[in-house]
Amino acid sequence: MKYVKTKKILNQAVADLSALSAMIHQIHWYMRGENFIKLHPQMDTYMEQVDAQLDEISERLITLDGSPYSTLREWADHSKVKQEPGIWGVKTSKRFEELVLALRYMTDLYQQGLDATDEEGDAVTNGIFSDFKGDFEKLIWMICAELDLAPEIDA
Ligand SMILES: [Fe+2]
Repeated sequence: MKYVKTKKILNQAVADLSALSAMIHQIHWYMRGENFIKLHPQMDTYMEQVDAQLDEISERLITLDGSPYSTLREWADHSKVKQEPGIWGVKTSKRFEELVLALRYMTDLYQQGLDATDEEGDAVTNGIFSDFKGDFEKLIWMICAELDLAPEIDA
């Protein structure tokens, strides 16, 4: 079988991107306080970005004769992105710190994908992982800038 490691990482990303989308939705819904008017709609753009990655990664997996996780239960069972019930009273900055941690996990996963696709000779999936890793590194920079922090990305 070809692309075994690549397909495993693609499906891991399917589960994780689904959880990441839910996490951002929670931030969008449970946001109160400073900069709400600006940051609430900004979360919509982040969700669109994550959902677009989810669709492209799932369809690449199908193209390679794989089967993406497609139920809430599968996503929850397989995702390593932390999910907690929504509660009020958490500062947006705290939620953003957790979002940055989740995005750092995703860029690490995409790096694993880059290594696996190099090893297995899948240049097309390599390009997808490369683009998406860059997109999330940029997002980490922007959210860290909002938090007055350096992005701390070791390229
Ligand atoms: Fe909304």
